[in-house]
Amino acid sequence: MSRFSARTDFARTPNPLALALERHRASGRPLRDLTESNPTRVGLPTPDAALLASDGAFTYEPEPQGLVTARQALVADFAARGARVAAEHLLLTSSTSEAYGWLFKLLCEPGDNVLVPAPCYPLFEHLARLEGVQTRSYPLPRAHGFGLDADAVGDAVDDRTRAVLVVNPGNPTGHFLHEGELAALADVCARRRLPLVCDEVFSPFAWDAGQGRVETVAGRDLPMLTFALGGLSKSAGLPGLKLAWTHVGGPAHLRDEALARLEWLADAVLPVGTPVQRALPGLLAHAPRFQAAVLERVRGNRQRLLAARPVGAPWDVVPAEGGWSAVLRIPRQPGEEATCLALLDAGVAVQPGYFYDFGGGAFLVLSLLPQPEVFAAAVEVLARTLGP
Ligand SMILES: Cc1ncc(COP(=O)(O)O)c(C=O)c1O
Repeated sequence: MSRFSARTDFARTPNPLALALERHRASGRPLRDLTESNPTRVGLPTPDAALLASDGAFTYEPEPQGLVTARQALVADFAARGARVAAEHLLLTSSTSEAYGWLFKLLCEPGDNVLVPAPCYPLFEHLARLEGVQTRSYPLPRAHGFGLDADAVGDAVDDRTRAVLVVNPGNPTGHFLHEGELAALADVCARRRLPLVCDEVFSPFAWDAGQGRVETVAGRDLPMLTFALGGLSKSAGLPGLKLAWTHVGGPAHLRDEALARLEWLADAVLPVGTPVQRALPGLLAHAPRFQAAVLERVRGNRQRLLAARPVGAPWDVVPAEGGWSAVLRIPRQPGEEATCLALLDAGVAVQPGYFYDFGGGAFLVLSLLPQPEVFAAAVEVLARTLGP
């Protein structure tokens, strides 16, 4: 019998692409890395570090849901985006990943499941498994540009399903939840008595002013228990500061019971540091400068990618509305891995669609964050390698 839990029994063998990347790096050959999605490594604006040394940084006043001053700053930030929320319905965590763990503890018994989109960023399966929870996928149909199909969500529900997870906009698919999709989803959730967990970490990054997009589910009159997740790691490009938030909404009796239980859970851990909570008003004031720089970067890089595609090329850029990535549909032959290896050989790193559970074809995923000169040189190689 193993001394260790099955929950932590993850496969640790590196995949062939990771090994090839390691070899490439060790060889010292140049690499144009279109897998880079760390916002602190690509020359984007950062706030004044003095913010973290603000008055009271060394005081300790434990508040399970997070310091009131920090939550009030978030209330103002939501209001600026048109959402009316109350500070008592907000909960701070050190990351959205941590918030997921808390929500799975709150909502699921071991062996229960939560519904997750496919394709999607490969995070939920691991976070769920660490809580003894399983994931069941619902497909995001390509015909909808990987938008949400509420019927597909309903079809994936079984008798152990305890929550529906939605990523708005999708990562890496970049499709925003639209009003009609949210209404249909709310109907499924209400009928099946399922809470909605809506990951909004990329919602400040819409590429244009589209109609009917849902920026946040917070502050809406929805019929089901609703958790809206956001955080500094994407909204301000500061993953190292470790501060995220969850807004709890929905029917008052469910919302208040969820908050009471989460407060208890938070009190047992108290994970968020005082300096970052004290600095939050200043960090939120900095966020628009970061967001504007990201939008300029990703719009420019997407344009460079579209411009690099020769007429009649056997690959396409999948339409999207926001986020930090681009998805390419490529021919099924030679396939995702062989194409990634050929690109690596030519000095460009990209990710295969299977990392993100894409189905129904072959896909590549590119980060749109790299510096323009790196990105432009990489897409030139990409266009040459993919043909015609
Ligand atoms: C959709 C999505 N949600 C959450 C996270 C994790 O963010 P955090 O740093 O708040 O844990 C990521 C990380 O890339 C993400 O892509």
